[in-house]
Amino acid sequence: MKTQDLFDVTGLSVIITGGAKGLGRAFAEAMLDNDARVVLLDKDESSLDQAVSELKARGDVAGVSVDVTDRDAVRAAVNKAVERNGRLDVVFANAGIDAGPGFLSMAGERDPEGAIEAVPDRLWDKVIDTNLTSIFSTIRAAVPHMKRQNGGRIILTSSIASIRPGAIVGMPYQIAKAGVSHLAKQSALELARYNILVNAILPGPFLTQLTTPDLKKRFEAGSPIHRVGRPEEIQGLALFLASPASSYITGTHIVIDGGALLGRAD
Ligand SMILES: NC(=O)c1ccc[n+]([C@@H]2O[C@H](COP(=O)([O-])OP(=O)(O)OC[C@H]3O[C@@H](n4cnc5c(N)ncnc54)[C@H](O)[C@@H]3O)[C@@H](O)[C@H]2O)c1
Repeated sequence: MKTQDLFDVTGLSVIITGGAKGLGRAFAEAMLDNDARVVLLDKDESSLDQAVSELKARGDVAGVSVDVTDRDAVRAAVNKAVERNGRLDVVFANAGIDAGPGFLSMAGERDPEGAIEAVPDRLWDKVIDTNLTSIFSTIRAAVPHMKRQNGGRIILTSSIASIRPGAIVGMPYQIAKAGVSHLAKQSALELARYNILVNAILPGPFLTQLTTPDLKKRFEAGSPIHRVGRPEEIQGLALFLASPASSYITGTHIVIDGGALLGRAD
């Protein structure tokens, strides 16, 4: 292979969960701009329709409306996407939600609503279902197709929260993301012999609807580069992990956080 073809994803069949907005939409743009074929899976129908109609100018894109916490529906949606495109090369398991307050407020005081004893069962279940179990369901639905083809790429959106405990993000989010990061390693180990590579992206703060103005300010203050990421700044990593350039990388966590894990320098 010539080195100029290292990032070639032409014609690849790609699925992106949570693809209607934010980081998922940025992944979609990166794939479409490089001539991959993309199916977005999202539960927000109006954002999905809008994303598909806007992205059509960039390439071959379709949408399937699905709530990724519905396990049967995830399998059906993945099968539908594979029927449409004839195969499945790359899956971004990315959909996720926030988890309410952490145990410290933005002002640095204890927030009773974020304390362990105040976390409601309903919130715990919803966040684990959406941010962890759905990632497993998506992998499980994709694997039979990839095994049949003897190859594929699975890219999980985790978070730096998976490797560093934090005070201002809710407990269930932290724990779900820790699960996602380990899921990347465990799946990579099992699937390596089928030439299916699994890696996790660990974003730090990016400017999406998950980042409220208060969070943004807080993240900027804690960052050595004093800013949060723009969604387009994750596109190079997405293209790298989907393309031949990363053919010897599996079971890895790649942090993309503008140095946030390092903490402030001034
Ligand atoms: N933005 C950040 O700073 C940041 C940092 C670390 C990790 N992440 C992770 O990145 C991923 C994407 O987040 P984002 O910031 O782009 O958020 P976002 O809210 O902008 O986009 C998330 C998308 O997922 C969809 N979605 C949510 N629940 C769903 C469900 N049950 N079924 C189907 N679709 C669903 C939403 O409709 C939306 O289109 C999440 O897993 C999030 O935890 C984000």
